[in-house]
Amino acid sequence: MSGEPTRNSRRLADYRKPGFLIPQIELTFELAADATRVTALMQVKRQQPTVPLVLDGQQLELQYIAINNIELRADQYQLTSEQLIISDAPAEFSLQITTTINPAANTALEGLYLADNVFCTQCEAEGFRRIMFFPDRPDILSVYTTHIIADQQQYPYLLANGNNISTEKLANGKSRVSWHDPFAKPCYLFALVAGNFDCLSDSFTTASGRKVSLQLFVEPGQQSKGQFAIAALKRAMRWDESRYNLEYDLDVYMVVAVDFFNMGAMENKGLNVFNSKYVLADDSIATDKDYFNIESIIGHEYFHNWTGNRVTCRDWFQLSLKEGLTVFRDQEFSADMGSATLNRIDAVKLIRTAQFAEDSGPMAHPIRPEQVLEMNNFYTVTVYDKGAEVIRMLQTILGQSGFNRGLACYLQRHDGQAVTCDDFISAMEDANEVNLQQFRLWYSQAGTPTVAIHQRYDSDNATLHLSISQRHTATVGQPDKQALLIPLQVQLLSSDRKVNQQHLIMLSQLTEQFTFADIASEPVVVWENFSAPVKLQQDYKLPQLLLIAKHASNGFARWDAMQVFWSDLIRQKAEQPTLSLTLPDDLIKLMRQWLQQPLSDKALTAELLSLPDFDTLAEQYQHIPVEAILCGLQSIKQQLADVLAAEWQQCYQATTSGPYHYNENEVGARALRNRCLNYLALVPQGSQLVQQHYSDSDNMTDTLAALTSAQQAKLASFGELATDFSHKWQNNVQVTDKYFSLMACDPTDEVFTHLTALSQHSLFSWKNPNRVRALFGAFSMRNPQQFHRADGKGYSCLAQVVARMDPINPQVAARLITPLLAWQRFNDQRRDHMLAELKQLAATSNLSNDLYEKISKSLP
Ligand code: PHE
Ligand code: ZN
Repeated sequence: MSGEPTRNSRRLADYRKPGFLIPQIELTFELAADATRVTALMQVKRQQPTVPLVLDGQQLELQYIAINNIELRADQYQLTSEQLIISDAPAEFSLQITTTINPAANTALEGLYLADNVFCTQCEAEGFRRIMFFPDRPDILSVYTTHIIADQQQYPYLLANGNNISTEKLANGKSRVSWHDPFAKPCYLFALVAGNFDCLSDSFTTASGRKVSLQLFVEPGQQSKGQFAIAALKRAMRWDESRYNLEYDLDVYMVVAVDFFNMGAMENKGLNVFNSKYVLADDSIATDKDYFNIESIIGHEYFHNWTGNRVTCRDWFQLSLKEGLTVFRDQEFSADMGSATLNRIDAVKLIRTAQFAEDSGPMAHPIRPEQVLEMNNFYTVTVYDKGAEVIRMLQTILGQSGFNRGLACYLQRHDGQAVTCDDFISAMEDANEVNLQQFRLWYSQAGTPTVAIHQRYDSDNATLHLSISQRHTATVGQPDKQALLIPLQVQLLSSDRKVNQQHLIMLSQLTEQFTFADIASEPVVVWENFSAPVKLQQDYKLPQLLLIAKHASNGFARWDAMQVFWSDLIRQKAEQPTLSLTLPDDLIKLMRQWLQQPLSDKALTAELLSLPDFDTLAEQYQHIPVEAILCGLQSIKQQLADVLAAEWQQCYQATTSGPYHYNENEVGARALRNRCLNYLALVPQGSQLVQQHYSDSDNMTDTLAALTSAQQAKLASFGELATDFSHKWQNNVQVTDKYFSLMACDPTDEVFTHLTALSQHSLFSWKNPNRVRALFGAFSMRNPQQFHRADGKGYSCLAQVVARMDPINPQVAARLITPLLAWQRFNDQRRDHMLAELKQLAATSNLSNDLYEKISKSLP
C-alpha cells in the first residue's frame, strides 16, 4: 500500500446540486451472455449554467452517442475509465447512448450479471454505472420505460420496474417485453431480471380498495417454498396500512429470489430482488430463525416503498435516512408479529457486538458518514442498526403518536424528492412543535457514549438523588465530542416493591442531577428496553440484579440483569485468573425456579437461562482476554449443567413439542427445550438424549439444535450425526449452507480439515457469496476458539480467503475481512499475526477500493 497514490474519498461537505436533470429515460436491453446491448434515450435538462455534463460509466463499451439524433464526433466528448464528459451540452436535449456490457464475466454481482442462467441487476449503491453512462447519483429522478429483448425459451420471464405495457413475439425465437414505471426514481432503484422461474401469484386489496397483483418468482421446482414469503408480504402490507396509513402504489408487486446475491435483498421499485436464503422456506428446511428473517426482510423491502423509494436520499451520506428508518419499521413490524421482548433482545445483542465493535475500531463512523471511498463499505451495522436506534429514540422522546405525525409530515412534504437526514428531523420538529437541535448530534457524532448512574437515597426525606453523567471517547477523526440528548427509560423498583414507578429521564448535559421525591424505600434503577445506544455503568450488587431479574416489569431488563451478572463474573475471573468460579446459591435457586415454572414467554425464559456469547463479552474489554472469556464461559456452563441437571431434564421433558408449527408459542417452546438440551449435552446422560432429539426431530430448528449441542459438547456421536445430516440434504443448497456453517464452527482443530474439504464440495463455489459466507463467514464470526487461535492459523486462513475473493467479488471480500481490522484489541501474539496478514494483503496488486479503504484505515 505504501508507495501507492492515496485514493480519493468523497466528502459530504462537497455535495453540489446536479448540473443536469434527466426527467425521462427509455432503455432497451438486448440480452446476450457476454455482449448485452443497452440503448438509452434520455431527455436531459440543464440546471446549472456552464457546467459540463458528466456521466458515470465503468466497464462499458461505448458504441454510439448522439445529441438530438446527431452522432457526436470523438472530439465532442471525453471518455475515461470512469466517466464520459460532454463539455458544452445544450440547455435541453435528447441524448442517445448505446453501450455493450458483459454480464457473464460479472462476478462482482454489481450492475447486470448472469448467474445460474438468470440475468439480474443490482444497482445500489453505484452499480447503474456498470450498465450504462448516466449521472449515477440518487438525486437524479427519472421516469423509466424499459424494453427487454431475449430468447423466449431460455428466458421466459423478462421483468423490470413498474407496469407491464406490452409483450411481443419477435422473429428468431425472441420476445420483447416493455415496462413503464410512472414514479420517478433514482437509478439505484432500477431493476431488470430475465430467466426461467416458477411464479406464485396472489393479490392484495389495499385499504382504499385497490387490487394489487403479487408475484413471487422462484427457481423452477421450488414453488412450495415461496408460500411463507407471500403470506408475510401480505402481513407487511396490512401492517403498514394500519400502523402508518401507508398503502402500496403500483398495480403489481414482484419479488424475485436468486441464489447469487451480495446482500439480503433489494427494494427496487415494484421489483424486489431477494437472496433466495430470505425467501425459500418450508417446515423441513427452515429454522425458526429463517422464518423470522424472511418475514422481517420481506417487510423491510416492502416498507422501503415509502421510506426510500417515494422519498429517497439526496446523496449516499444520507443512507441512514432510508435504512435506519426502514430497519426501525421492520423491527416494529416483527415485534407486532411475535415476541416483542425477544425482538428487542436480539436487536440489542447486535448493537452490543458488531455495532459497538465497529464504533471502537478503525472504521468508526457516524450514522451519517462524512467521508467515503467505497460506498459499499458503508452498508454497516452503524448506518442500519444504530440508525434504527436513533429513530427509536425519536419515538421514545415524541411518543408513538407524535412520531407517527412526524413521519406523515415527512412523507407528505417530501413525496417524490431526494432529501437529507436533516429534512427528516425538521419534519419531526414541525409536526411536534419541538426543537431537536441537540438530537441532531446523533447523526454527526460517532462512538458509543458511556452513561454512568450514581444513586443516593435520603431515607429521612424519602428522596432519591441520581447523578448521571455521559462520557464520550474520541473516535477516528473525531477527537472532541459534545453532550448528546439521551432518553433513559427507567423503572424505580424497591425490594419491598413499595416503590414501583416508571420515568423517562432526558439527559442533555455531561453531568446532571435528578431528584425524585416521595420514594418510600430505596429502589434500584432499572434500565428498560435499551432506550439509547449507550453503555450503561451502574454498580449493581447481586441482590439488586436478582431483584431485577425476578421482578422488573420489562422483560428486556430482566434478561439484561442476568447478562450483567455473568459479565461481571467473567470479568472477575479475567482479572484474577486463580479465582475459582462459584455460582451463588440465590442465583441457582432463581434459575431452578424458572426451569420448574417457566414464564409464559418461554422464549424469554430461554434467554434468561442463557450465557452471553463470546462477542458480547469481548466487546466489554479494551483488550480482549480471549482465553479467560472462553474458559470462563465453558466452566460456568459445565457447572450450570451439573448443578441443575435434574431441572434441565425435567424442563426438557415438560416442554412439549407437537408437530412443527411456526408461531410465537411454539418458537418459544422450542427455544427453551433446545436450551435445556444444550446444557444436558454436557452431562453423562446427555449423549443419548441428543441422539434421540436428532432422530425425533421433524424440523430444522431441532435438528440443528441437536447437532450444535453435540458439537459444542464434543460428543463422540457428533461425526455420525453430521454425516447423516449432510447425506440427507446433499441435493439442497439451502441446507448444505447450514451444513457448511455447522462444520465451520467445529471447536477443535479438525475445523481446518473441514474447511479445506468443504471448499471442494460439489455445491461449493467461490463465485457464490452465500456459499463463501456459509463456510468462511461462519468460521471467522462464530468460531472464536479456532479463529482466535494464538498461533494465528485462523487469521491466515481468513486472509487467504479474502485474497482469493477480492478479484472475484470485492464486496464480499471486504465484509469478510472485518474481524482482522480489530487487531489493536488483542494481545501481542494475536495482534502480530493479524497485522502480518493485513500487511500482506495490503501489498497485493490491484487491491479493490473496498479492501483498500478498510485495510488502510486499520494499519498503523
Ligand atoms: N438496500 C438494501 C436494503 O437495505 C440493501 C442493499 C444494498 C442491497 C446494496 C444490495 C446492495 O434493503
Ligand atoms: Zn434497507
